[in-house]
Amino acid sequence: VVHRIAAIPADGVGVEVVAAGRAVLDALAADSGGRFSFDWAEFPWGCGYYDKTGLMMDEDGLEALRDFDAIYFGAVGWPSVPDHVSLWGLRLRICQNFDQWANVRPVRFHPGVTSPLRKADDAPLDWIVVRENSEGEYAGLGGRNLSGRGPGNEVALQTSLFTETGCERIMRFAFDLARTRQVSKVSSVTKSNAQQHGMVLWDEVFERVAADYPDVATESVLVDAMSAKFVLQPEDLSVVVASNLHADILSDLGSALAGSLGLAASANLNPDRRFPSMFEPVHGSAPDIAGEGLANPIGAIGSAALMLDHLGHPAEADRVRRAIDATTGAGVLTPDVSGRARTDEVVASIIDNL
Ligand code: NAI
Ligand code: MG
Repeated sequence: VVHRIAAIPADGVGVEVVAAGRAVLDALAADSGGRFSFDWAEFPWGCGYYDKTGLMMDEDGLEALRDFDAIYFGAVGWPSVPDHVSLWGLRLRICQNFDQWANVRPVRFHPGVTSPLRKADDAPLDWIVVRENSEGEYAGLGGRNLSGRGPGNEVALQTSLFTETGCERIMRFAFDLARTRQVSKVSSVTKSNAQQHGMVLWDEVFERVAADYPDVATESVLVDAMSAKFVLQPEDLSVVVASNLHADILSDLGSALAGSLGLAASANLNPDRRFPSMFEPVHGSAPDIAGEGLANPIGAIGSAALMLDHLGHPAEADRVRRAIDATTGAGVLTPDVSGRARTDEVVASIIDNL
């Protein structure tokens, strides 16, 4: 099979880590005995494109992407463009239009990486944050200047949207995922004591869906308590399902607890497979280290592994994850995880370990 992949490196370290992930995938394909290969098309969209054209992506960009088997994304954002313009103009536009309603963000601990939670040789932890990726706090609803009274008296409204359908599908996704794991447990996160409409609906749907999965353990935890639990009882977590905003924050916390934002992978899935899904590291464009060859490529390479899972190569995906762990275990680490290796040295080591 030839997998047709759209690569969108976009901005900052996105460019470096997408190149890293492509190198690993091409090495894997070269070693597959002709079983599969990747046909890449690279799109130049992002903030640099915006500076030249006034557009984050082409007007007909979604059409151009529609027929690919998957999208491999870097990171979007650069100081020359306001963040809400760049994020909504590219990444969120793709997520929303391609109905990528499930964002899967594994929190994986790696051998050889010291984290705030554990020493390098402690037993690894792993759990998965499942993020509702189509509505909630990022539905884009609201407006500015609602008071009509001008500067100094502005009123802005940012409304969260929760639909029963949206809640139910992400929860069923989380429960189905939990059934594939050693510990079948789903933790649902809300702030339904303070936010009494949408999040109470979320809680009710969670209880109803849970009844269909009597074999899966459940708990409902408020988001503030869940942030503490991430730090104090992470061994108690398996699948954590949360709204767009809550899961966004919790997944950054999870990746920092695992040692660095640069390690975390994610998949924006359209589980119905009507549209391409998009695979990207959790981190942003990291302008502070961009262009210096210091970016940790493991988040992006782990995202490439999630793409392999999605494309029907789970054994190859595991092979990539084992190669990553062999590399970190051998101490080939970028500076964000206290190493001295450069991006390309980590990539070369991972390819060796394949
Ligand atoms: P960031 O994730 O880019 O950086 C936060 C910190 O983590 C920085 O110190 C950075 O150096 C470090 N870091 C991030 N990725 C790394 C890697 N691969 N290797 C080593 N260190 C890494 O978040 P920040 O600074 O809040 O945002 C920068 C830009 O990225 C903004 O324009 C923001 O809007 C955008 N952004 C884009 C995202 C996306 O495309 N999915 C996600 C988050 C932020
Ligand atoms: Mg985030």
